[in-house]
Amino acid sequence: MRSLFLALPALALAETISPSGYYNSPTVEEEQQSDLANATSPFVFPGIQGGRVHANDWDEAYEKAREFVSQLTLAEKVNLTSGIGWKMGKCVGNTGDIPRLGFQSLCLQDSPLGVRLTDFVTGFPAGITVGASFNPKLMNERGIAIAAEHRDKGVDIALGPAVGPLGAQAAGGRAWEAFGADPYLQGIAGAETVKGMQSQNIMACGKHWIGNEQEVNRNHLSANLGDRALHELYAWPFADMIHSGVGSMMCSYNQVNHTWACQNSYLLNHVLKDELGFPGFVMSDWGALHSGVDSALSGADMEMSGGGKGAGPDGDGVGDGAAFFGSNLTMALLNQTVPLDRLDDMATRIMAAYYKTGVDITREKRNGEGPSFSSWTLDTYGPQFAYTGEGPIVELNKHSNVQTDLSYRIARQVAQEGIVLLKNVNNTLPLGGPSCTLAHQTAGKSEISGSSFPRKIGILGLAAAPDSRGAVCGPDQRCNNGALAGGWGSGQVNFPYLITPFEAINRRAVEKRSSVQYNFASFDYENFDVQASHNDVNIVFGLADSGEATEVLGNWGDRMNYTLWHNADETILRAANYSSNTIAVISSVGPVNLEKFIDHPNITAVLFALPGGQDAGEAIADVLFGDFNPSGRLPFTIARNDSDYVPIITKGLDDNFDEGLFVDYRWYDHHNVTPRFEFGYGLSYSTFDFSELTIDLHNRPSEYLPPPPSLNSVQSYNDTLPDPSELLFPEEIDRATYYIYPYINSTDQVSTGSKYPYPPNYSNNQPASASPAGGGPGGNPGLWENVARVSAHLTNTGQYPGGYVAQLYIGYPQNSNLPTPPKQLRGFQKVFISPGESEEVKFDLKWRDLSVWDPSIQSWRVLRGTYNIYVGSSSRNLELMDQFTI
Ligand code: BGC
Repeated sequence: MRSLFLALPALALAETISPSGYYNSPTVEEEQQSDLANATSPFVFPGIQGGRVHANDWDEAYEKAREFVSQLTLAEKVNLTSGIGWKMGKCVGNTGDIPRLGFQSLCLQDSPLGVRLTDFVTGFPAGITVGASFNPKLMNERGIAIAAEHRDKGVDIALGPAVGPLGAQAAGGRAWEAFGADPYLQGIAGAETVKGMQSQNIMACGKHWIGNEQEVNRNHLSANLGDRALHELYAWPFADMIHSGVGSMMCSYNQVNHTWACQNSYLLNHVLKDELGFPGFVMSDWGALHSGVDSALSGADMEMSGGGKGAGPDGDGVGDGAAFFGSNLTMALLNQTVPLDRLDDMATRIMAAYYKTGVDITREKRNGEGPSFSSWTLDTYGPQFAYTGEGPIVELNKHSNVQTDLSYRIARQVAQEGIVLLKNVNNTLPLGGPSCTLAHQTAGKSEISGSSFPRKIGILGLAAAPDSRGAVCGPDQRCNNGALAGGWGSGQVNFPYLITPFEAINRRAVEKRSSVQYNFASFDYENFDVQASHNDVNIVFGLADSGEATEVLGNWGDRMNYTLWHNADETILRAANYSSNTIAVISSVGPVNLEKFIDHPNITAVLFALPGGQDAGEAIADVLFGDFNPSGRLPFTIARNDSDYVPIITKGLDDNFDEGLFVDYRWYDHHNVTPRFEFGYGLSYSTFDFSELTIDLHNRPSEYLPPPPSLNSVQSYNDTLPDPSELLFPEEIDRATYYIYPYINSTDQVSTGSKYPYPPNYSNNQPASASPAGGGPGGNPGLWENVARVSAHLTNTGQYPGGYVAQLYIGYPQNSNLPTPPKQLRGFQKVFISPGESEEVKFDLKWRDLSVWDPSIQSWRVLRGTYNIYVGSSSRNLELMDQFTI
């Protein structure tokens, strides 16, 4: 579908640097002539020093950080910024330590849904699942529960949440790690997750900045996107996370407009640190640096995992012992290619984030204990350096159980709320008469007499059953021949258990003295027909999976197509042949093609379950049998035609985001294409009515933002460069092979003679003021002011208590220079209501919610004209509408 669109302007072709060091935008005309395939990224130097952007709640952290960093030697500062090498420490990423001050290596660990590569941790449902819950409180609690486990295993920095991929490409391998194909949804979910996580006194890491929408060729591809799409879609959720205090960010593998994301000074120095006022630090994705000097100058503050490109002993290309930071950074500082104040800024940003997020408090409680696990083995003892098998034999794993009651509760609840009821003819569901519990919980159980529990149930399809190779096959769940609980890759954990749909349904059937027939066939249907016939109901399961970079059943991370795996369409149709009461349950990481069976008259109900974690099957059974009234909503659109989706780029190295602002439902609305199920869609066992929309525009925003607050003064440690001989390898160090040290081998390595090819207009002079869109964490503080309150009444008019998602969309005034999608999500709320009762739902709209990015002024603008406000049940079922004019 990409080729159908008018390209939105690329960032800039004719960029220049103004005398103040700022990026001067090209004119609209210049941009319109540009073509994404030729887009370039402007140079912006230097980045604003950390602590200069006003952020009251960072002030104390910056004071402490400066105090700490002022004591450090050059080598110690370099150590803070450098990973020690792949598999050279216990965590997936480990910085150098500072033994002189008793400062231990920082432990950085995946994943966004739990603690990766260890035992006795919770297998939480994925980001996309909590996205489908549309429940901000649950997003927050999930963050708390995940981070508490990280903290209790000894992690300092948990590598999540992911708000990129945005999910623009429906088959993108890692979209399930993030929260859904809409920036507003991603932004609320990202911010709530960050707040929850960091309340546990560890640091979160927002990733992947930016444009890493697909896995195929992710280390080569250039994501080419326009200035408006960058600001209004892809960077939007990162702004929310910055506003809520996220300590670190991870720059991504890909290029953006033909410059590597981790050495893209426009994206790091300018957008992230100036426009979005990010006070924390930027780490590279693992092996994502392509340079040392350029990356440091462009705004990368930490190299992960240390160890450059090239084939290491593992052949994994990650850790051959050469790093861009470590001793190479030391050399660049000594020969004055990288100014010392850049290193000071890198170290200060890292330490400010450390204090801001309370990692120091956690470390004090740990009493010097480091991580209690090793990512590389479950053996209790082994050699210290997993990569080389060298070093003393040490205790690697304490096997401590960090699962909490909260974790169990939240894992189950997210799985339940992440199930979307797509079809339910004549109240087929819930099975066996409802006993819906009002989730979280005011009215208790309300028993309603209904149909009786089915006497004979068919449980069919491979996706109902355990994978014969285990729930934790892979590693990182790189397998899929059974029930789907999550995608694969670094975003996954080792599950403590996995309850499959078969197990959960079978148990309920036994309790009710029902009879069960099952068959998990996929291609060979011997016996299937017998097991599928003479049942009161056939429940048939299908799945689609995806993951990170590596291959599973021919899918290189990204899905090859939108078809259900393991011949499930055929299995579903076969099951339907034998029962006029066939229920299809689809467990999938993203949109799939449902066309072959969705309208089949014998298929009376369809559930769409987003990856449900350890309780995936239990949650499905909860919904099937009415223990939980479904309240999930689709966090993406399901199309009728595969050609409606933005494809994965498999040829060439340019991924041109030609659809611009028209991603997901914005595209279907704009082109008047009817999807199968729209973004925000989902049924309930009850019925709900909206009424009484009111709008109070209490703070009418001006067209242009107020000027940004002035910047804090530039800080300096007044340090002079040490003599290179002080950086020579200390003799007492017993050097470990492939370990990344901050020391140099010989002073001859430090040559000051040659000139470094800095980009045109390179400057190290700190800017005098923030850019117009900047000045505070998350951008200009004006953007975060509440300007309007919208409210509506929601009444549960049905028989069942249950949750409902009220959604607010805005249609902006049309402006031919700044066209906007017909409507965009700008509010949602989840309410749980008993039958016959009403709730008032309230949405506070912020200045930014009414703003569009105007490339010609390089800032946000509130267009003059009429704003349509829609409130309703999905992006296409908007029961209430009103408007105001600005
Ligand atoms: C992934 C990151 C992850 C890192 C460390 C990379 O391949 O892209 O998301 O945090 O590995 O495992």
